[in-house]
Amino acid sequence: MHATKVTDDIYQLSVNVDNILFEGLWEIPNGVALNSYIIKGEKTAIVDGVCGWEGVPGQLYELLDKLEIDPKSIEYLIINHMEPDHSGWIEDFKQIKSDFKVVCSRKSAELLEHFYGHTSNILIMGDNDTLDLGNGHVLSFYEIPNVHWPDTMVTFDNLTGTLFTCDAFGSFGKAEEANYDDMLSEDKLAFYEKEAVRYYSNIVAAFSGPVKKAIEKCAKLPIKIVAPGHGIVWRKDPGRIIENYSKYASYQKGPAREEITVIWGSMYGMTEKAVKHAVKILEEEGIEHHVHRVPETSWGTVLASVWTSTGVILAMPTYEYKMFPPAAAILDEMGKKKVQNRIAFRMGSYGWSGGAQKELDEITARNKMNWSFLEPVEFRGNASDEELKLIEERVRELVRAVRSSVK
Ligand SMILES: Cc1cc2nc3c(=O)[nH]c(=O)nc-3n(C[C@H](O)[C@H](O)[C@H](O)COP(=O)(O)O)c2cc1C
Ligand SMILES: [Fe+2]
Ligand SMILES: [Fe+2]
Repeated sequence: MHATKVTDDIYQLSVNVDNILFEGLWEIPNGVALNSYIIKGEKTAIVDGVCGWEGVPGQLYELLDKLEIDPKSIEYLIINHMEPDHSGWIEDFKQIKSDFKVVCSRKSAELLEHFYGHTSNILIMGDNDTLDLGNGHVLSFYEIPNVHWPDTMVTFDNLTGTLFTCDAFGSFGKAEEANYDDMLSEDKLAFYEKEAVRYYSNIVAAFSGPVKKAIEKCAKLPIKIVAPGHGIVWRKDPGRIIENYSKYASYQKGPAREEITVIWGSMYGMTEKAVKHAVKILEEEGIEHHVHRVPETSWGTVLASVWTSTGVILAMPTYEYKMFPPAAAILDEMGKKKVQNRIAFRMGSYGWSGGAQKELDEITARNKMNWSFLEPVEFRGNASDEELKLIEERVRELVRAVRSSVK
């Protein structure tokens, strides 16, 4: 937990959380930072009062104390997005102060009532509406619907050029004391960029269309600092995270990077032997690849990997006339996250009837994934030498197709 100065009159209060599944679902091996911001004009506002998870509000009060800010002096609680990781603190705050004003979008106001029973002292903001905090800090608001919920907006401080972006431009990864791009080494920045891909693919991916629209809208503002609700603050090169997000959004429909993700599962090692052969070919070809066994690897890790990969190899056996269940589950989740237009190859073992392939066709069709599949290789029990040769040919064909589609 850190309280740091972003720029004149603006401070970041950052609380790290780990040992949870984010949204009750996503593994966060490197934790996540929940960022609130204080803007001090003549009046004081807090942007995104983090969450109500156990222990977090207490840490926020400690940070306010460090900055010598009396929580009772906060007049405006700006909520860019009503998801409880950005709004949950309101319940706590209400217990110490009753006459603050909530500043939020119209859609957020509806949720405010249903989530927290809060219906009074609400200032509803739409595009270009402003709030003057005094001392030159005039805030403007812009709606960025569906990044990540329909209610989301961003807050822009016109004096300092600071854009408070909530979920947009965020990343996983705990915050350190130096939670600013200008204070981090290139290695550390690369770490947060990787965490940004994990965050994007797990949390925001399905809304890549709205992300593009949000970027177009924000591009019109004279942004000097990007201050997200998760991850690091970009004040040396705010364009870097905006460009990154623009790339991540484009990966939804592909092509993504010149990479191949292998997702595989196996009960008795027969598919596994074929996977080892395929991976050996990928190594020979010298293409960047990521290999994930399911269900051992979490959905979040597989999604982050497939999001940046143009090519996918799916390998799994038939199980009770269908696809090996954890492979079917992650494939379906990829469909829901709209991982589209990948170039793919599927192989796998079966005993007597097969069935994995049929379910694959169903899942990709149902989710309108529009993947382009090479001819699959299915083998009974262990793959024969001829079948291994076929697998090798297909893998090389996949590598060629990925390389030519990325260039
Ligand atoms: C629980 C279970 C269910 C299976 N169901 C089917 C099936 O419905 N149809 C089929 O052709 N083979 C079925 N098989 C056979 C496997 O697909 C076959 O043994 C395959 O070689 C396993 O590959 P693996 O060693 O990579 O797990 C099943 C095997 C198990 C253990
Ligand atoms: Fe969110
Ligand atoms: Fe969030």
